[in-house]
Amino acid sequence: MAKKTKSKSTKSVKSVNSIETNEKMSKIISFAKRRGFVFPSSEIYGGFSSIYDYGPYGVELLNNIKKFWWKHMIQLRDNIIGLDSAIFMHPKIWEASGHVAGFSDPLAECKKCHFRFRVDTLLEELGFSADEKMSLGQIEKLFRKNIDKIKCSKCGSNEFTEIKKFNLLVQSNLGNFSSDFEKEPVYLRGETCQGIYVNYKNVLDSTRVKIPFGIAQIGKAFRNEITARQFIFRTREFEQMEMQYFVNPKSEMEEYEKLKEYRWQYYLDLGIKAKNLKWYKHKNLVFYAKEAYDIEYNFPFGFKELEGIHARGDYDLKQHSKFSGKDLSYTDATTSEKYIPHVIESSAGVGRTFLALMTEAYTEEKIDNDIRVVLKLLPELAPIKIAVFPLLKNKPELVKKASEIFNELRKLYMCEFDDNGNIGKRYRRQDEIGTPYCVTVDFDTLEKNEVTVRDRDTMKQEKIKIENLIDYFKLRI
Ligand code: GAP
Repeated sequence: MAKKTKSKSTKSVKSVNSIETNEKMSKIISFAKRRGFVFPSSEIYGGFSSIYDYGPYGVELLNNIKKFWWKHMIQLRDNIIGLDSAIFMHPKIWEASGHVAGFSDPLAECKKCHFRFRVDTLLEELGFSADEKMSLGQIEKLFRKNIDKIKCSKCGSNEFTEIKKFNLLVQSNLGNFSSDFEKEPVYLRGETCQGIYVNYKNVLDSTRVKIPFGIAQIGKAFRNEITARQFIFRTREFEQMEMQYFVNPKSEMEEYEKLKEYRWQYYLDLGIKAKNLKWYKHKNLVFYAKEAYDIEYNFPFGFKELEGIHARGDYDLKQHSKFSGKDLSYTDATTSEKYIPHVIESSAGVGRTFLALMTEAYTEEKIDNDIRVVLKLLPELAPIKIAVFPLLKNKPELVKKASEIFNELRKLYMCEFDDNGNIGKRYRRQDEIGTPYCVTVDFDTLEKNEVTVRDRDTMKQEKIKIENLIDYFKLRI
């Protein structure tokens, strides 16, 4: 659990819930909808605030991000293994983790129109830090001191209720037939890592891992965010990719530095430019934390958190040991040293990575008097890897040959067949969704058994023999 606020640039008068956006953000939002990447949830019913659905190309990109992460975290590592724990967990877990008591944001309400907003983010936009170490009273004081700079974004009033703590855990009615329910409501998980901590012993007992080792998982998390903003950056339902690394207390900081380096390189490997990434060091650490850094990305609304990398000490396993009554200590088989492992966490959001990649990849290029929109994603991440076109739709021999090639390539890659419109338009449609290669079947194909392969970024075309096509793509995708 890590609720925090960072102090950023000072601004003058600020509207509550003022959405920092700019042209690029608006373009990405409308592009994402128009080209089937992201849809607002329940749109035909008027929408459902702060929840989004991923469309046909969006789900491909989302899956590719998750595959990329899984490969980096598990496949390429000797000592990290996967897990898929359930969304519903024993209610005591959220008490042990501190979420029931402390996972909250300070909330105020406009007295006139009853609009609710997060006070810490508002103060942050004014240039003040209202972190979790501050009491509600201190936040209230800071808020009132600056009240002349604050107005309700909905009605313009500056009369607000007292600030209160608003818990972010989402409750369910699972098990509400049981008498325990009143005492202990069941929550939808607020973060995926608790499922890792409570399975730490199962993993240790059922595999051959030895400390240091990590457990990684990808899954949904739910938070009652007060003001969810900036498109898919902050939503109430989202996916996390989390890895908890269990280490000997003596090597905690050494392992922490290694993990920081590994995660930084991951974002470069994803195709993000170093100039769009930066480290943010947490100034006010929670009492158990040794060190906490975020990797921030330069979103269209500024540098914001993409991932947290935290050295958490023995807090998590100690708390679960205390609340469950189970011994979660580790005994080193070689040295017989016994200790509660310390945890180093890497926690990234799938949706935020998606938005970072869209921001990074969305490009407009001026060609003659036209604008070409290209999504310059790595081939590995692109929703469609290859598009296959017959040059002319009304030539059955071309359509037949193109279909044969398409059916072979689709066994290996996500491919799309398109015979609609002129070739230029078809190229542009594929450029927009980030397809790295287009294959065109023309009359030369019938005569010489070769196709034209066009590269998305350079727009260069080359002739490739059909029998060499698979090797050609294997080298590039
Ligand atoms: N286990 C630690 C943890 O959950 P966090 O900083 O609250 O820490 C980790 O969340 C990551 O999850 C963030 O860096 C972000 O990428 C993603 N995330 C958190 N809240 C989110 C939200 N409301 N919407 C989308 N992504 C979110």
